[in-house]
Amino acid sequence: MTEHALDPLTEQEITAAVQAVKQSAGLDESAWFETVSLAEPDKAELAAYDRSSSDYRSGNPGNGNRGNSDESEASIERRAYVCCYEPSSNRTYQGFVNVRTAELQSWNHVPGAQARIVSEEFAAADKLVKSDQRFRDACAMRGITDLNKVLVESWAAGNYAIDEEQGERIAYCYCWLSNDAGDNRYGRPIGNLHPVVDLRRRKVIRVDDFGVIETPPDTAAIRPTQDLRNDIKPLQITQPEGPGFTVDGYQVKWQNWQLRVGFDIREGLVLHSIGYSDKNRLRPIMHRVSMPEMVVPYGDPAPGNFRRNAFDTGEYGIGQALDSLTLGCDCLGHIHYFDVCSHDWSGNPVVKKNAVCMHEEDYGLLWKHTDAQTGQSRAVRSRRLVISSICTIGNYVYGFYYYFYQDGTIGVEVKATGIPFPTAIAAGEASEFGTIIAPGVQSHVHQHVFCFRFDMSVDGQHNSVSEVEFAAAPVGQNNPHGNAIKINERKLPSESDAQREISLGTARYWRVLNTKSLNRFGKPTAYRLAPGANALPFLHPESSVAKRAGFMFKHFWATQFAADEKYPAGWYPNQSAGGDGLPRWTKADRSLEQTDVVVWYTLNFHHLPRPEDWPVQPVVYAGFHWHPDGFFDENPALDVPPNRGE
Ligand code: NI
Repeated sequence: MTEHALDPLTEQEITAAVQAVKQSAGLDESAWFETVSLAEPDKAELAAYDRSSSDYRSGNPGNGNRGNSDESEASIERRAYVCCYEPSSNRTYQGFVNVRTAELQSWNHVPGAQARIVSEEFAAADKLVKSDQRFRDACAMRGITDLNKVLVESWAAGNYAIDEEQGERIAYCYCWLSNDAGDNRYGRPIGNLHPVVDLRRRKVIRVDDFGVIETPPDTAAIRPTQDLRNDIKPLQITQPEGPGFTVDGYQVKWQNWQLRVGFDIREGLVLHSIGYSDKNRLRPIMHRVSMPEMVVPYGDPAPGNFRRNAFDTGEYGIGQALDSLTLGCDCLGHIHYFDVCSHDWSGNPVVKKNAVCMHEEDYGLLWKHTDAQTGQSRAVRSRRLVISSICTIGNYVYGFYYYFYQDGTIGVEVKATGIPFPTAIAAGEASEFGTIIAPGVQSHVHQHVFCFRFDMSVDGQHNSVSEVEFAAAPVGQNNPHGNAIKINERKLPSESDAQREISLGTARYWRVLNTKSLNRFGKPTAYRLAPGANALPFLHPESSVAKRAGFMFKHFWATQFAADEKYPAGWYPNQSAGGDGLPRWTKADRSLEQTDVVVWYTLNFHHLPRPEDWPVQPVVYAGFHWHPDGFFDENPALDVPPNRGE
């Protein structure tokens, strides 16, 4: 396997980084590791490295890979970004380690920051709460005595200006009783009971009990109540000659596409160096793609529920929650799995086998033309390369899918499934802010708001941004029949212009273009961001979540690249007061003309649960596309052969 500067950290590299911090950072015994992840090389360094390895230019993995070439060995560092939390001082630290020399290069206390909540803290909180007498009494009042059947789930507490929580590391908990079948730990919500845990001092600071609601009956087994259907015939996907892709380490080539698979413990699946080979020239399109933040605000104002919202990337970490797909995924055919390396809070590496799945999918029709005169017809089938990962965060499951098509289109899709967050409701009561999905169980209206980050490189590093809209032209001499549609494309010259919402009335979309790279019509080559189904928030702008997730109020943002601007709600959203990330950075109003452009797209999946979402929700799909828009001179998929047998 050929190694590359963008490969995720290995077990040995994580161990080296952890050792360096333990030896040199001056932390005490209580400290633990929030993040040990690849610190990606500076772009200029990376470009030089790729030139020296001739990898990117010729499309062949060259001799300049790490460890083989003295030249590139000397020219590029392998570094880890490390974040630690020290409970004894309630301080969060971050810094960088050279993982080859095990040298700690920098180390800083980040004032006011709270590290993400890690899985070991969830487990600790569950134990603490169950041994608390106030909690046991509250359970007994609800007729619950077997605490082994109780699930206590810690959620980041947010920031609600509550005195005893301010400045402390707090989890706000939600509780459920397992169903009798034992296959649904969320089956029977325990109403109105919310332990509040100080994760730093390891104690329950209070138990919020807003009144007993009868615990719902046992109705929640995740299995059918009738016989399994027996009319499903085999459907087989076979690839007798193997897959159409080649893999070298984390580099992938498929038809004209080339890219690298990456991983981050916070963002999960990352894609690097996406390019398309056009007439034997590899043309870059995107430098880096990831989903660096998401938030799920719930719409119930009741005590204990108003503060329910989840920044699953920034408060918990998507990467740490990736499923090993040995547990099953939805893919058929010849599958290539990538392993990645995460770590526990002690800094021990944890290999996630089969964390990223890649395969090819038949996708119906690619193009077709029938000549009505001669009756001749050509139809070409479409195929796409799918790279995906699935993460389980508590009750919910998200699949993240990137699609590469033969016509140069890139698709992004989220599949949402799992168990919709169940809350108890008293018999006979109506659910004002949700749906009753089972006897005694309601699930509240909420939104899943994902922010995708695209570090663009359309035909090179220097790009510009525009918006295209359409309008009915006025009726007059030029438009006597009132059918004319005016095309209005305008530059978005700086960051204050590039904060936009989707608009059905103007069929709005956005383009990232390269004014130095012209197509055969003399126009800048470009990619078009075509929004799909979407929604806007219903949060009051002064509400706590709105302030902490300002990115969610715009669907489209563009910024000038800055290496430390990675997370749209800021580096430390856990219990933050808000204002950080995109809203703060864009106050600088930097230029978006012929510069290194980053596009952020907010995908809001608005969800009022249905009875059919219980006890487990059929997958809901949400996504959008990037289409080449004058990037090629004509349909780039004319060369796809018709299927054999035609
Ligand atoms: Ni939902």
